[in-house]
Amino acid sequence: QPHLQISPSILSADFANLERELARISDADWAHVDVMDNHFVPNLTLGQPVVEALARVSPVPLDCHLMIEDPDRWAPGYAEAGARSVTFHVEAAKDPVATARAIRAAGARAAFAVKPGTHFAPYEHLLREVDMVLVMTVEPGFGGQSFMSEQMPKVREVREAVRRHGGEIWIQVDGGVSLDTIGQCVEAGADVFVAGSAVYGAEDVPVRIGQLRALAGE
Ligand code: DX5
Ligand code: ZN
Repeated sequence: QPHLQISPSILSADFANLERELARISDADWAHVDVMDNHFVPNLTLGQPVVEALARVSPVPLDCHLMIEDPDRWAPGYAEAGARSVTFHVEAAKDPVATARAIRAAGARAAFAVKPGTHFAPYEHLLREVDMVLVMTVEPGFGGQSFMSEQMPKVREVREAVRRHGGEIWIQVDGGVSLDTIGQCVEAGADVFVAGSAVYGAEDVPVRIGQLRALAGE
């Protein structure tokens, strides 16, 4: 099992003080940045100019999760803006192979995400093009929703496929990950844990990151 990583989502941070909010998660492995366009999901957050500004001040690399239409067109721009990992949704991509290749060509790790209702099997062939698969454990769009443990069989399925495929492809879970639910994710084979409200809702953010790490077995 590769190194287990924590990627706090700044969706639950104070948007009026993002530099300071990033400084609070300097113990984490990544900063998860949720990009929403009001079309792919019914919520709107931030775009490429803000990602570029965050990349300049973040103490940890940016893990950009694009919940947008037409990622084929926009995803490489996020890598150029300084995100070190760029995840797009397969439900929105017209040419996921070309999109993943363009992200990598722009210098970032490439990943694809599947919503709770999307099966993984039709996309297994994409493993050769990506560095990570994101299995959503809530319906994308909002922080603070409850964890869908019914997605754990999908995490296991992806873990099996990655084992067969070989190489080091990470499996990320996003949505409702907390002290109570991270154990199931580890057990199912996830290795990158996104947590928004569980981190930024904590009294002491660095302590919470440490608690999540301990439960993840790191
Ligand atoms: C949901 C986002 C998540 C969100 C997670 O659409 O992709 O990254 O911030 O928030 P929590 O951890 O509160 O469920
Ligand atoms: Zn996310």
